Amino acid sequence: MRKSSWLLVLLAGIFLMTGAGAAWAQQFDKVIAERQELMKGIGGASKALRSAADAAAVAASADKLAAAFAKINADTFPKGSADGSRSKPEIWEQWDDFTKAAKNAVTLAQAIATQARAGENTAELVKAFGKNACGSCHRPFRKPKKRS
Ligand code: HEC
Repeated sequence: MRKSSWLLVLLAGIFLMTGAGAAWAQQFDKVIAERQELMKGIGGASKALRSAADAAAVAASADKLAAAFAKINADTFPKGSADGSRSKPEIWEQWDDFTKAAKNAVTLAQAIATQARAGENTAELVKAFGKNACGSCHRPFRKPKKRS
């Protein structure tokens, strides 16, 4: 082959590789956007929980939170989908701890719903919820917000 043909082959190779790279990154765009929506929903439900006017409202918000936390799994956090998101790579290095934190959040939300329905006071549980449910996962597994 002539020198110029080799150059063409090389250029075509680079083109294919970068194209595939872009497709690979894009593959996670949708799932990242979806799980960020899930988290925003969790943020809204946790605000509603804190400002709930009565036990029925507390239970309803806690139910919503439990259902949302149950969606934290390998579908919403597929392996390696950290880039372009605030998810730390540690999620997949310590997958058991990460899913434990999600299950713990489900359990805490369910406990609030159960107590609210039983007519018990949930103020203390609700107060501790942010630290125990959200913080215990965000601290090890969420990157700080980028300054822009
Ligand atoms: C099991 C782990 C886990 C738990 C529990 C958890 N989060 Fe998150 N949260 C994350 C991760 C990881 C991200 C980063 C998601 C990303 O960008 O890929 C995040 C992101 C967020 C965001 C930003 C969403 C965006 O627009 O980028 C909000 C808001 C949020 N969480 C609220 C909460 C609240 C409120 C709670 C508790 C009621 C909570 N989270 C509990 C892991 C968790």
